[in-house]
Amino acid sequence: MDKARKLFIAGNWKMNKTVAEALDLVKSLKRDLADVLDVDIAVCPPFTALHPVGQLLDGTVVKLGGQDMYWDKFGAFTGEVNAAMLKDVLCTYVILGHSERRQFFGETNETVNKKTKAALAARLKPIVCVGEMLAERESNRTEAVVTDQVLNSLAGLKPEELLEVTVAYEPVWAIGTGKTATAQQAQEVHALIRRLLAQLSDAKTAARIRIQYGGSVKASNARELMGQPDVDGALVGGASLQARDFVEMIQNVRN
Ligand code: 13P
Repeated sequence: MDKARKLFIAGNWKMNKTVAEALDLVKSLKRDLADVLDVDIAVCPPFTALHPVGQLLDGTVVKLGGQDMYWDKFGAFTGEVNAAMLKDVLCTYVILGHSERRQFFGETNETVNKKTKAALAARLKPIVCVGEMLAERESNRTEAVVTDQVLNSLAGLKPEELLEVTVAYEPVWAIGTGKTATAQQAQEVHALIRRLLAQLSDAKTAARIRIQYGGSVKASNARELMGQPDVDGALVGGASLQARDFVEMIQNVRN
């Protein structure tokens, strides 16, 4: 696929996989994806599996990411991990502001913004998630909601910091439902996000930032989605839990 930006496909395992299961999965990925240099790849296991998975993937093309983090450096924050801890277990990326965290765990644009800045300060690359709920799409509020999320989650970042960020557009109604946005629906919002990124920096910077699509992406629909001019990869849930599905998807979007 002839794209201006290198495609980036990341698997978000959410709350799945014991250490043994995680190692099983990444052993296959390491073997089957070893020659893939034209697509950036990452897996984001639950916290408990990060260290062993990181050890196994160290030096391979499959990079590691956390699913969340806290912005403070250390201290009395029971249950939290910070950016330095994720770096310590060899994470390159961290997912921030996933809709499940926004919906169930009180994440807001303001907390996502603090986390994004803390991740960047620790040289972790944030994958910042945005996306509208079904009721918001049905009441024609998609543009307003995504605009608010992008501008406030990424407020105050310098252009060189924005270049380290990946934005993931994940319409909430498409997550885990089998209902993918059409390629046109995705492209429309991705183009909006790129305009907003230009507003936050400049057109040249915005043209270099990757915007992933997420929501029921699988091997059979990935190529069409990624064929859209502003869709630069995918954040994948369900289809990243089996090596065969994830590998097939990555192979399908290569040239
Ligand atoms: P599914 O691919 O399971 O729809 O999940 C998408 C997602 O939320 C990735 O972060």
